[in-house]
This record gives sequence, C-alpha cells and structure tokens, in this order.
Amino acid sequence: MKHLLSVADLTAESATEILDEAERFEQALLGREVKKLPTLRGRTIMTVFFENSTRTRVSFEVAGKWMSADVINVSASSSSVSKGESLRDTAMTLRAAGADALIVRHPASGAAHQIAQWTADQGTGLDGRSAGSTPGLDGRSAGSTPGGGPAVINAGDGTHEHPTQALLDALTVRQRLGDIAGRRVAIVGDILHSRVARSNAILLATLGAEVVLIAPPTLLPVGVTGWPVRVSHDIDAELPGLDAVLMLRVQAERMNGGFFPSAREYSITYGLSQRRLDLLPEHAVVLHPGPMLRGMEIASSVADSPKTAVLQQVTNGVHVRMAVLFRLLVGSDGGAS
Ligand code: CP
Repeated sequence: MKHLLSVADLTAESATEILDEAERFEQALLGREVKKLPTLRGRTIMTVFFENSTRTRVSFEVAGKWMSADVINVSASSSSVSKGESLRDTAMTLRAAGADALIVRHPASGAAHQIAQWTADQGTGLDGRSAGSTPGLDGRSAGSTPGGGPAVINAGDGTHEHPTQALLDALTVRQRLGDIAGRRVAIVGDILHSRVARSNAILLATLGAEVVLIAPPTLLPVGVTGWPVRVSHDIDAELPGLDAVLMLRVQAERMNGGFFPSAREYSITYGLSQRRLDLLPEHAVVLHPGPMLRGMEIASSVADSPKTAVLQQVTNGVHVRMAVLFRLLVGSDGGAS
C-alpha cells in the first residue's frame, strides 16, 4: 500500500492490522508524560486542506508530532491557491519542497487520487533531482524509483470517501462491542452527501458487519443499490435490532440552499431523540463523526449519553492516523512495539 485513497483498497486482514497497530500505539503512549516516539523522525508530513476541519486535521497533526515527524499545515486560504495557483502546481510544489506524505482534504471527489497520480508521475524536484523520499513497504525509497513521490492520504474528498474516519469508527465499534463481524450497524441520515457513509459502509461490510442505511429517499445516492448494504426508511423499526448506530450530519453546505425534508421534518423523522435512544439494546453504541448538529440529527442529551462514543472516536482517530502514517512511511512491522 503506497497511498490510502479508498477503503475499497483494504482487505479485512489489512484493515484489522491497522486497527491492531492503532491499539499498539495507544498502549505505547499510555501513561507517558511526554508523548513522543521516534518512529517518523526526519520525515515531513504536510496536511493540505481545501475544506474546513477540526478533528481530521488536528488528529493528523497530533499523530505526526507524537511520532516525531515534521508536520506542516497548508490551508487553501493562506496558500498561493488563493492567488489562483492550480491544484496540480500546488501538489507538485509541496512534493518538490520535500513532502514524504500529503494528507489531502478537497471538495472535489477524486482529488486525492488525482494528486497521487500527479505526484507519482512527475519525478523531479526544483533542483532537478528526484523529489520525495517515501519508502515503499519493502523499505526502498520510492522517491528514487519510477512511480515514486509522497504517500497520499485521502482526508475526505467531496462526497466520495473518508478512509481514516471509517477506520477510527471501526476501531471504536470493536472496542465497544468486542468484535465487528456479525454485528448490525446502521448509518443514519444524509447518505447522499456523506463520504463518511460510503467509507463506513464498505469497510464495515469488509469486516463482516451487516450494514443498514436509514435515510429519506431524497438523501440516498442513486447508485446505492451497488453498495453492500440494506436500505430502510424506518428508524424506529430498526433501532431495537442494532448493535451500533452511526448518525450523520445533514450537510446543508452541499445542498445549494435548501433540502427536503426540512430541518424540522428531518429532526422529527430521523433524529436520534432520547425516546429513540431508549429503543436501542442495552449494549448498543452510538457514533457520530462530528461535527454534530445538536437538536438536528442528534438530541443534546443523546450526544452526552454514555452510550455515545464521540470523544472516544476522536481519541481513536489519533491512534488510527499514527498507524496509517506508520504503515505508509515505514512499513508494517512493529511501529509501536
Ligand atoms: N469527522 C470529520 O471529518 O470531522 P472534521 O471535518 O472536523 O475533520
């Protein structure tokens, strides 16, 4: 694995290895006053965010710093993108400046794939030498071989995918329930605009869960029939049979000014109220990728309930991102051991 662009590229085995590695990093850091491992000393990680983020950007930065990497944050508003520089020129500039990993969030679906192609194809830096120094999983420097260049991690591309979110959600389900295979997990809400829904549906199914999408017909993508899921429009009927429920934010910013059903109708019909929380089995866990809209898709009392794992998801996000950076930049054996 050179990049992490889609969870579809992960097998059950490789995804489980990442989750196991994340827990090894958690254990390695447990109780340490100074959270610093030498794992990525000398490596340069650049977060390149063309959309706003709190959790993903911060947790990648924390993950890189806890592994002693040099972490540089590039945002569209403070970069030369605001002067009209193209995405390709920006990506190639960051490669030439020495990025070992580019962590990319962009509003266009496929942007991270495109950057991975560009930066792999164009092999020279500003000094004419091969740019980038990312080793492949075999330990050789990929920057000096054809197809070299930085590892690219998709941190959310349009409505397409958000692979590290799905990995941290899977880790949270596994920690709360003990296992994932055979569990029934519902993803509720604005599936149409959600990269989190697609990545979670694919990864949870790969790991053996039964996935149910619960949404109004207007918030389901046309191609959902090709997903490894069952579809329902009746949250009340589904809740008693669930082991986990992942609530999604309604993404008004991707709806050109209006959506149907209205916010009020949506909240009444699909929102996770206290009454609905009580329909879940005792052992069930509630997840939300954040940011939460309290009072919209999730009641404030539910958001703060012990059944809800939102802050555990955030903490797991740091460890999962450490594991992903480690696997892409170093290899697969014993990063935290
Ligand atoms: N879950 C998630 O991607 O949150 P941010 O947009 O804050 O990164």
